[in-house]
Amino acid sequence: MTTAELKAANAQYLWHPMAHPKAMQQTPPDIIARGEGSWIWDIDGHKMIDGVGGLWSANLGFGRKDIRDAIVEQLDELAFYNTFRGTTHPRAIELSARLVKLMEPDGVTSVFFSNGGSDAVEGALKLARQYWKLKGQGDRTKYISLRMGYHGVHFGGMSVNGNTNFRRNYEPLLPGCFHVDTPWVYRNPYTENPERLAEICAEQLDREISFQGSDTVAAFIAEPVQGSGGVIVPPANYWPLIRKVCDKHGVLLIADEVVTGFGRTGHMFGTRLWGVKADMWCLAKGISSGYVPLGATAISANVAEVFQQGDASLGSVTHGYTYSGHPIAAAAALATLDALEKEDVVGNAARQGDYLMQRLKDLGQRNRLIGDVRGVGLMVCLEMVADKATKASFARGAKEVTEVAREAYRLGAMVRTSGPNIILSPALTISRSEIDVLCDALEGAFKKVAP
Ligand SMILES: Cc1ncc(COP(=O)(O)O)c(C=O)c1O
Repeated sequence: MTTAELKAANAQYLWHPMAHPKAMQQTPPDIIARGEGSWIWDIDGHKMIDGVGGLWSANLGFGRKDIRDAIVEQLDELAFYNTFRGTTHPRAIELSARLVKLMEPDGVTSVFFSNGGSDAVEGALKLARQYWKLKGQGDRTKYISLRMGYHGVHFGGMSVNGNTNFRRNYEPLLPGCFHVDTPWVYRNPYTENPERLAEICAEQLDREISFQGSDTVAAFIAEPVQGSGGVIVPPANYWPLIRKVCDKHGVLLIADEVVTGFGRTGHMFGTRLWGVKADMWCLAKGISSGYVPLGATAISANVAEVFQQGDASLGSVTHGYTYSGHPIAAAAALATLDALEKEDVVGNAARQGDYLMQRLKDLGQRNRLIGDVRGVGLMVCLEMVADKATKASFARGAKEVTEVAREAYRLGAMVRTSGPNIILSPALTISRSEIDVLCDALEGAFKKVAP
């Protein structure tokens, strides 16, 4: 198809996630045609630094020959076989062993594969309920989660999501899902003291579990750093406190590491950033650096043990997908893990993240539209405000936010907008000079929109 034909066909035929079909016709999306390292080119040949990293996913950048070769070799060897009871294949086995080895310090002993983040969450939520049935506590069916959280789009994940936009079009949702406040330092009705805020929010979880009845709650699920909700980094004492609350009530702790896993925060996993062990982890995106869709639910020894001892029918995992552990995805993930280990990608994310934050904080101080700059590692958010002094928010879809993103695009940086937020999650392999390109473009964009 020609460029013009592609644009017309997109508007006519393609429905996009999280978008109104008509809006996609009126404001056509950017067509990204090529990628190399931290860079992308649109269909018109415009070159940009990819501040979005695919979608928090292209952690090793684009065009990696090692991942490409692993995929091609696997295609030649075995394009697909299933892992349902009775069959398996070498790459899924190798990847499971590799992940368990990587997560051994976290207490992981098993993994269950799927096709993406929503799947990984669904697996964790279902396994949590099954765990309690196996333990003879079948009343433990409820889930508690955080406001502002994002856990994908399946009915389970959507029901524990903490953002109305992702919920109300598909209500009624799963019964038995309850939400507590997230420790959001910039916006909360309680306190400006981060440590105290963490205590208040952990107490809220404690009270909610007691109110529901401890013996009815299966799990608490949260992101170690909330990504889509606007890169909300909890105070350092929050995760240790919620681990204690979960232990007090015997509730399972599920860490949704779909974004934070595999180095995004400058630590291999977000739970390690907080020095906490979860009972299950939801993994996707960076696991295969976005080259092929893959999800995984990592399971700790204490959960796995209960399944191992469970009776033959109750202990069977009657959940899974045709493409659970797809060989091409597993091959891409193995090559990704090789690179993560050999190239100090996680260390680079921490160093470049510090530099990115320093540059953006400086910009934030100088520009009247930037209310807050927050993040950790290479996940960062610029929250735009209508009034810096009062923190008055922009309305959803405010033109200033779109204008900054469009101007940044023109100046050579792809950034993502979400409500009033400009969200950045570039490749973890990004260099300091590439961070400069990204920040220079943003600086120019903000200067143009709010001189
Ligand atoms: C924390 C978190 N969980 C789950 C998901 C869902 O992942 P997917 O879009 O691959 O289904 C996402 C997606 O961004 C996410 O950020």
